[in-house]
Amino acid sequence: MLDRYIQLLKEGNIVAFPTETVYGLGADAWSAEAIQKVFDQKGRPADNPLIVHVCSVAMAQTFVRQVSDDAQRLIDQFWPGPLTLILEKKPEVLDIITAGLPTVALRWPSHPLAQKLIDAAGPLVAPSANSSGRPSPTRPKHIKTDFGQDFPVIDGGRTDIGLESTVLDLSDKPYRIYRPGKISLNEIQRAISSPVTIADRQDDAAAKSPGTKYTHYAPDAAVRWLKTDEKTNNPDTLYLLHSADAESRPANVIAYEGDLQRMARELYDRFRQADHDNYSTIAIEAFLPEETDPIIPALENRIGKAIG
Ligand code: TXA
Ligand code: MG
Repeated sequence: MLDRYIQLLKEGNIVAFPTETVYGLGADAWSAEAIQKVFDQKGRPADNPLIVHVCSVAMAQTFVRQVSDDAQRLIDQFWPGPLTLILEKKPEVLDIITAGLPTVALRWPSHPLAQKLIDAAGPLVAPSANSSGRPSPTRPKHIKTDFGQDFPVIDGGRTDIGLESTVLDLSDKPYRIYRPGKISLNEIQRAISSPVTIADRQDDAAAKSPGTKYTHYAPDAAVRWLKTDEKTNNPDTLYLLHSADAESRPANVIAYEGDLQRMARELYDRFRQADHDNYSTIAIEAFLPEETDPIIPALENRIGKAIG
């Protein structure tokens, strides 16, 4: 089933494939020409670097100067999985991948189709497979909407996590999380003793992760947090309630009954649905300080970016 896509990649073409987080838009990591097609297809600014996807530590080592002890511990614990590590790059890594930075981002995805593809086609750069400024795709139809019906997509159904990987910079201390994801700060901090911080927008180091400066997808609908005690009775609003129970709700009130994994899995799909169904507003129940689910920082980050 993968043969056709492996062939396409080997011939320097780009192919969308599933990972456990979101769909990626893959290209041969050693072909500047193929990688240029990724930027062109997405309309992605050239100064926003890409993640290289690998399927072994040996493959990762072909891109970085060295795997430090801390990197090795994190790899042992979280790879394959939704953690991207930024390390000092080898000189031969293509500048088009790193936007000229001295570092490269690496990830070993856990999705079996992604692993088979990388194993056969070699390391792949893969940003999320959406047009720049649209939400990351979690289902094949999202890619077809952005890139057209004929675009080559390896169908893995709906992705499991639904939010992009945690991006962690190990190239400088203190280590910094540029993008929160399923692997939380606490989990990372438990695995290594060196301090890890979250880079915020004021943080100079965040400027090193160019992706963080771009406005992310804002649906045509206005996204906002639901006010305390606000009623959920406006038919032009799509409500996303993380704590409420789902029984006898109208179609525009989505209640997750505390299942935040499901909320994360569906979030981008709901954003796309809101535009498709012409809702004027998406109102999302805010999280309380005492709520501690480790996916909350990632949800708040993506929702915050959609609010603008
Ligand atoms: O879950 C994911 O990570 C998905 C799937 C397909 O693996 N990929 C993804 O890629 O979200 P993308 O390109 O949409 O996001 C990559 C992020 C961007 O914010 C980019 O700026 C940052 O990683 N990044 C990549 N290389 C970097 C580097 N050398 N230094 C700092 N930030 C980097
Ligand atoms: Mg993206």
